[in-house]
Amino acid sequence: DRSLKIAPSILAADFADFGAECAAVEAQGADWIHVDVMDGHFVPNISFGPTTCAAIRPHIKGVMDVHLMIAPVDPYIDAFAAAGADILTAHVEAGPHIHRTLQAIRAAGCKAGVALNPGTPASAVEDLLDIVDLVCVMTVNPGFGGQKFIPLAPKIATLRRMIGDRPVHIEIDGGVTVDTAPECVKAGADVLVAGSAVFKGGSASDPAAYGDNIRAI
Ligand code: DX5
Ligand code: ZN
Repeated sequence: DRSLKIAPSILAADFADFGAECAAVEAQGADWIHVDVMDGHFVPNISFGPTTCAAIRPHIKGVMDVHLMIAPVDPYIDAFAAAGADILTAHVEAGPHIHRTLQAIRAAGCKAGVALNPGTPASAVEDLLDIVDLVCVMTVNPGFGGQKFIPLAPKIATLRRMIGDRPVHIEIDGGVTVDTAPECVKAGADVLVAGSAVFKGGSASDPAAYGDNIRAI
């Protein structure tokens, strides 16, 4: 399904109220919920782990899209699968055995995603396209929400060409706004993650603000 999907990132939501925040954005039309896991090692920030993902899960009706910015990945796959992740995305830079990691994610019953940092070329995932369901193109250096978008349309277009007929999503993550989203979609993206652009407009007590921001993208 290559229709456009909006995936609000709860990294920009109220950490004391994830349940209400997820319900609010879904009520306003969010397609997926993007969940950013950071370990303070692969990226210079710490967010939360599988226990928090499990606590959020019952508050999400749709797809729980878990972005693992952690290394190593393999020891934690089962815990995130048990937490109810629908998609588990690992970074191609997270270790020497990304192929094994992606196989293990599928074996655990999740869809498998592979993410690329801005400095990593599209060719790094070329030999993985038959074993993934999603390629995540980072348009910021991962670690923090609210950063400036790095334009990478040629890389997105290269990936779309490489993917061909395979049922593989292209997700864009970082600095997506009403201004930067169109060039990503034009280049071939079908999933847009947005943290600040969706959540900065309001709190869970003001779901309409989310809706306006989501639809504006
Ligand atoms: C960055 C995260 C992103 C981030 C996006 O490390 O992977 O998902 O939350 O936030 P915005 O949309 O604010 O750049
Ligand atoms: Zn992310």
